[in-house]
Amino acid sequence: MRRAIYPGSFDPVTNGHLDIIERGSKLFDEIIIAVLVNTEKEALFTVDERRGMLEEALALIASGFCRLRVDSFQGLLMRYAVEQHADAVVRGIRAISDYEYELQMALMNRRQEPRIETVFMMAAEAYSYVSSRLVKEVYSLGGTIEGLVPATVEERMRVKLHKS
Ligand code: PNS
Repeated sequence: MRRAIYPGSFDPVTNGHLDIIERGSKLFDEIIIAVLVNTEKEALFTVDERRGMLEEALALIASGFCRLRVDSFQGLLMRYAVEQHADAVVRGIRAISDYEYELQMALMNRRQEPRIETVFMMAAEAYSYVSSRLVKEVYSLGGTIEGLVPATVEERMRVKLHKS
């Protein structure tokens, strides 16, 4: 039984995240999609809203025999990973620019918990420029985000940002 944690802010979940989860589901028996309860960062959606959007979105992906579970965590990722008896942490890499930061985190995490591996996965090229931050910025300024996030997320963003 191989269990992975896919941690992140997911504010909101994008099609890039879903692509990583779908790919990861071929490698693991269970993936826990873990929403960081971030207190310091400005978030558009509450943790509950982010979890709700993930639950809705996961219903749309083909995960085969892999069990997908949504959870949230606070504090040190590695402590949470140990509590969950995880074997690995999954992170998506879009471009080389992601790699430096991700490598730094992965090595720091490995120092905390050498038993838990970080697995970097490449999202489909079509999502290589998609980030939650840019999706929020473009949408709030009136741009289109169709095809970059699930339709349910777009709808929730419309409601949240009072757009018609
Ligand atoms: O989606 P994000 O915002 O890039 O995710 C970042 C996340 C949640 C993976 C990272 O901030 C994290 O692991 N935070 C938990 C606190 C922690 O363990 N920090 C040390 C990381 S080396």
